Amino acid sequence: MASAAIRPTIRFSPKASTDPCLPPWDTCHLFSRCRNRTVTSLRSSLISSDLLGTNRSVDPVLKCNRIRSTVSATATPAEVMEQTPPKTDSKISTIVDVDLGDRSYPIYIGPGLLDQHDLLQRHVHGKRVLVVTNTTIAPLYLDKVINALTSGNSKISVDSVILPDGEKYKDMDTLMKIFDKAIESRFDRRCTFVALGGGVIGDMCGFAAAAFLRGVNFIQIPTTVMAQVDSSVGGKTGINHRLGKNLIGAFYQPQCVLVDIDTLNTLPDRELASGLAEVVKYGLIRDPEFFEWQEKNMQALLARDPSTLAYAIKRSCENKAEVVALDEKEGGLRATLNLGHTFGHAIETGFGYGQWLHGEAVAAGMVMAVDMSYRLGWIDESIVKRAFNILQQANLPTGPPEVMTVEMFKSYMAVDKKVADGLLRLILLKGSLGNCVFTGDYDRKALDDTLRAFCKS
Ligand SMILES: NC(=O)c1ccc[n+]([C@@H]2O[C@H](COP(=O)([O-])OP(=O)(O)OC[C@H]3O[C@@H](n4cnc5c(N)ncnc54)[C@H](O)[C@@H]3O)[C@@H](O)[C@H]2O)c1
Ligand SMILES: [Zn+2]
Repeated sequence: MASAAIRPTIRFSPKASTDPCLPPWDTCHLFSRCRNRTVTSLRSSLISSDLLGTNRSVDPVLKCNRIRSTVSATATPAEVMEQTPPKTDSKISTIVDVDLGDRSYPIYIGPGLLDQHDLLQRHVHGKRVLVVTNTTIAPLYLDKVINALTSGNSKISVDSVILPDGEKYKDMDTLMKIFDKAIESRFDRRCTFVALGGGVIGDMCGFAAAAFLRGVNFIQIPTTVMAQVDSSVGGKTGINHRLGKNLIGAFYQPQCVLVDIDTLNTLPDRELASGLAEVVKYGLIRDPEFFEWQEKNMQALLARDPSTLAYAIKRSCENKAEVVALDEKEGGLRATLNLGHTFGHAIETGFGYGQWLHGEAVAAGMVMAVDMSYRLGWIDESIVKRAFNILQQANLPTGPPEVMTVEMFKSYMAVDKKVADGLLRLILLKGSLGNCVFTGDYDRKALDDTLRAFCKS
């Protein structure tokens, strides 16, 4: 196997950063964590009162959200908790803004938000709404969402399209069912598509909204942890091709994202854990304080403690919003959000879509990326152990399924979107916890060694 060091053929084009927190782009190092700057406008503010219910104890982390204040993108839980919690119990929510100029939008996070009808209605364009959901979610939440859209507003009419459930249906045939419904029902440009579901529905509905009549209004109502912490934010939409994940799609931002954390009450445990893989990812690539918080709170997350979940979702959305605001179309920095995904996508495609959940494949992929970073001498062994332990604690896989061979990894990784001019670029950890690079400049032998260490053949 080749062991020669690979030289990058692509350099980051953006001008060298003048920000003292960031190293120059042309080093290929994307130290994405930057403690002293607030690049996105992130606010935690009161949406309404009485969200947690009077009997539930309110975690100080969540209580602080009731204070209408600017929370920096890098505020740590400890810093947040230092704020004086208010005395009275009430329903609490947070808003995280994604700052993209005229395409900026709010992410509303909290319990009971589907009962606050004005939140959704204020983002509807036109009189007609198409809710896109699937056979699992429709019986649980479709009526509630239709009610939220129409309550007190008789001018709005809602149609729905209920797709088959599963990653294997994230394809062109299923996408066409959305267009069939919209065209048969004579939707025009002044309409709104609403994605009600997990990442599969969000990605497909968003892509349909981007393409239908060259773009219609679009709202995300994510109902999985995966979608609430990651896929509904940032405007990446698309479908799979049989040769690779998410290879067909568009960048298309929603009008708003409404995260009602009560929807997680019906989510299966395995899906919950899958979403936590992306939460761990933010800690590893850019937010060490958040990682430490996760190490202390993983059991509470798995037990679905509402305030702990709300904090994890908020902090994840803040991290994602900050990265997306800096690099919406993935010129470089945004790629760091794909730690473990090149390995993970190879597992998803090679093992068969839906065999392993996205977060499960990403968890195994992150362990592989961390292993490779260590082989390159870029990180301490302690980070390898901590990454492994937290993923294991989250009941996530820490290596690929046995069916995956070195050759399978190589062939699927070769069609990854991060290949440029034939060069496979990877997100790898480098330096202390919370620092990473997106680079093609690594010793190929380390990749080979990692693949051999994790595959039986
Ligand atoms: N666009 C992005 O930036 C981005 C980021 C991360 C992941 N993704 C994509 O997201 C997809 C994975 O998303 P996912 O993990 O949400 O999977 P998913 O959409 O398949 O949902 C997981 C399962 O949970 C069910 N479900 C959803 N909400 C539920 C609820 N509240 N109660 C009960 N069941 C519920 C779904 O019907 C499905 O069976 C992948 O296709 C991945 O590529 C996209
Ligand atoms: Zn992902």
